[in-house]
This record gives sequence, C-alpha cells and structure tokens, in this order.
Amino acid sequence: MKIAIGSDHGGYPLKELIYQHLLKKEIEVTDFGTHYEASTDYPDYAEKVSEAVAAQQYDFGILICGTGIGMSIAANKVKGIRCALVSDCFSARASKQHNNSNILALGSRVLGSGLALEIVDVWLEAEFEAGRHQRRIDKIKAMENRHRS
Ligand code: RB5
Repeated sequence: MKIAIGSDHGGYPLKELIYQHLLKKEIEVTDFGTHYEASTDYPDYAEKVSEAVAAQQYDFGILICGTGIGMSIAANKVKGIRCALVSDCFSARASKQHNNSNILALGSRVLGSGLALEIVDVWLEAEFEAGRHQRRIDKIKAMENRHRS
C-alpha cells in the first residue's frame, strides 16, 4: 500500500506523527510537505497529494490542516478525489466502506494524537463494500462530469 501525506503549518506536527506511525507499520509513505512550521497555504499541499492519488501513483492520501476543513474542501476539487473529513473512528470506517474515500482529512487542532492515529489505522484497514454504494459513487462521478468546466 502506498500513501501520500501532506499538511500545512497547522497540520505539520500531526503529519510528522502520522508519517512516523506509518513508517513503523512498514507502510510506504511519501511526504509532500510542508516540512516546516512556517505559515503556508493548505491548497498547495491538497492539490499535490490529490493529483498524485487521482493519477493512481498512490493508493490513498492523508491531508492535515488545523481543522481539516480547508484541506477537504480543496482536495474535493480534484476530479476523482473523495476526501472525507473525519473526527471519529465510526465515520472513518464508514467513509471507506460506503463512500470509497481515497483521501482522509484530519484536523490537528481538533483531534488528540492518540485518536488521530487510531482513525488512520481504522481508515486504512477498512474496505469499500461496493454493491448499492457503487451506484452512488457512480452518481458522484456523473456529477463531476456534468460540472466540469
Ligand atoms: C491555518 O491557520 C488554518 O486556517 C488551516 O490550517 C486550516 O485549519 C484551514 O482549514
């Protein structure tokens, strides 16, 4: 499994923790930055990670900012991305099982580090259930095509 990870300055400390956590689990992970605590703009990292996931260079992406909100809004602008902003394990699992989320967005100012790492684990282990959910994903894809400018 190949993971792309990115954050802005608000998400930087949690990104570092998650990056180390994934390495310990021997999961292949590429860090798209930021590599500093200096103020930066979350759309830049959302776009890099989302494009890499949409191009299937990575299986999944993880994006972290202060709230996770900016990252999730930006990531969902990229065609083929289904980014889920999650703050609990139930939603993390459901976002994969039902929505086939391919990017997880987290808020480092919202979550404690223990819960954040547990959400990451639950999300990576969960699998898309397809069936009736595939029809709904197909409708999202059709929406993307209708609204492409
Ligand atoms: C940066 O201060 C903060 O606005 C950003 O990390 C994020 O929370 C935006 O959604």
